[in-house]
Amino acid sequence: MEIKKILQKKNINKELKISGWIRFNRTSKKIIFIDLYDGSNLNGIQIICKKNLLSIDDFEILYRAPLYSAFTLKGKLILSKNNNYEFILEKIIDYNFSDPKIPLGKKDHTLEFLRMQAHLRIRTKLFQSVMRIRSYCSQLIHSYFAIHGFYYINTPIITKNDAEGAGETFFVKTKDNNSFFNGQGTLTVSGQLQEEAYTQSLKKTYTFAPTFRAENSNTSRHANEFWMIEPEMAFADYFAAMNLGENILKFISKKILNKYKEELLFLGNFFKLDLIKNLEMIINKKFLRITYQKALEVLKVAKLQNNIFLNDQFNFGDELTTEHEKYLAEKFAKGAIYIYDYPAQNGAFYMYKNNDNKTVRGFDLLVPKIGELIGGSQRENDYQKLIKTIDEKKLALKELTWYLDLRKYGYAKSSGFGIGFERLIMFITGVENIRDVLPFPRTPGKLEF
Ligand code: 4AD
Ligand code: MG
Repeated sequence: MEIKKILQKKNINKELKISGWIRFNRTSKKIIFIDLYDGSNLNGIQIICKKNLLSIDDFEILYRAPLYSAFTLKGKLILSKNNNYEFILEKIIDYNFSDPKIPLGKKDHTLEFLRMQAHLRIRTKLFQSVMRIRSYCSQLIHSYFAIHGFYYINTPIITKNDAEGAGETFFVKTKDNNSFFNGQGTLTVSGQLQEEAYTQSLKKTYTFAPTFRAENSNTSRHANEFWMIEPEMAFADYFAAMNLGENILKFISKKILNKYKEELLFLGNFFKLDLIKNLEMIINKKFLRITYQKALEVLKVAKLQNNIFLNDQFNFGDELTTEHEKYLAEKFAKGAIYIYDYPAQNGAFYMYKNNDNKTVRGFDLLVPKIGELIGGSQRENDYQKLIKTIDEKKLALKELTWYLDLRKYGYAKSSGFGIGFERLIMFITGVENIRDVLPFPRTPGKLEF
């Protein structure tokens, strides 16, 4: 039985079998205390090994057992004097020692050190907490969409278009450097374009898949392989998409808070953050919404009043940096904030052009500590305008004819967005570097594991 399931009143005094690994031990001549974990809860369970209750061999084995050794044990659950569940060991059923030279010890290691041990770091409480929350979060995403009638679409990993037009694609080739397909295959930067075809029949869809970007930016928020959640809705404008984004985040936050409070306290203590308050802020506070133009004005005022961003002009067309984004979320909104109606020149080709001919119906959601968590838009519905923008942005029209077709055959207005899954996990867990929320991160120059 899992440790989490064992820790219940009804199991007290029952004869039980448990399996797990040693995280910590304290040995003395007559008694040994062991923290055994199996991944099902934060703290595992305390095993009490009393010499007088065990065979000589069993006591000796436990006395010598290095940390991270694997054990299957038989014994009884009791409630200790201070009301903690403990497991009184009766017999070792099976075991396998770890090499005591394992590079994980009793003391805490730095995250940088653990990154070089990506195959072992999941054994720490910290990574167990993060990865268990990550797993639950994936399940919650699927359940949110299932409850709300969205279809899960598996868009291709190998594509021929650079959806975002940023030129950050990885090429797919055979080992003799053959491009194999007709044309250069690339790893997808977003499932959106193919997904849109499905939205024009299933109405509400989402993808949740790996995404690849060859950007050589060694920041704490960028990875070359990351997961993106992309919902898309037909008959919906960008405000409807913003509502959806807000509802998803509120749903996930509530569920995580319910199930993983202990882990949030543990992680919050490690990162010196109030993670519970963070989630409560998402749950209870309406997300602010301001235009890009208004955001520039807010930043101009901040520059004058607070003596920050001194080198920035904040002219129309200037891109918001991470620092600007964090300011808008942390200081101005004190919570999550949508920025919308971005300059057309910076937007992707598929974004709906507003009547002012200067802005597009694109939006970002900014959150404290992270900056951009969501990027999305209403899609351009006008066939001719799309052709014009494709031309202006010097994209290959012939690769996009199928996408343009969608506009010809009964196109219903459509909007959607992408949530960076790792950034969401960073926000929830307080982890500061994207490398520590990915099981085996892929970043420039790193492919060890
Ligand atoms: O803003 P982006 O580029 O939007 C799109 O790809 C759209 N096609 C989505 C859509 O409308 N269906 O990316 C969406 C989100 C970002 O807000 C960010 O959270 C995350 O994906 N993201 C990254 N996360 C980690 N590493 C990277 N290199 C990322 N690039 C984007
Ligand atoms: Mg973006």
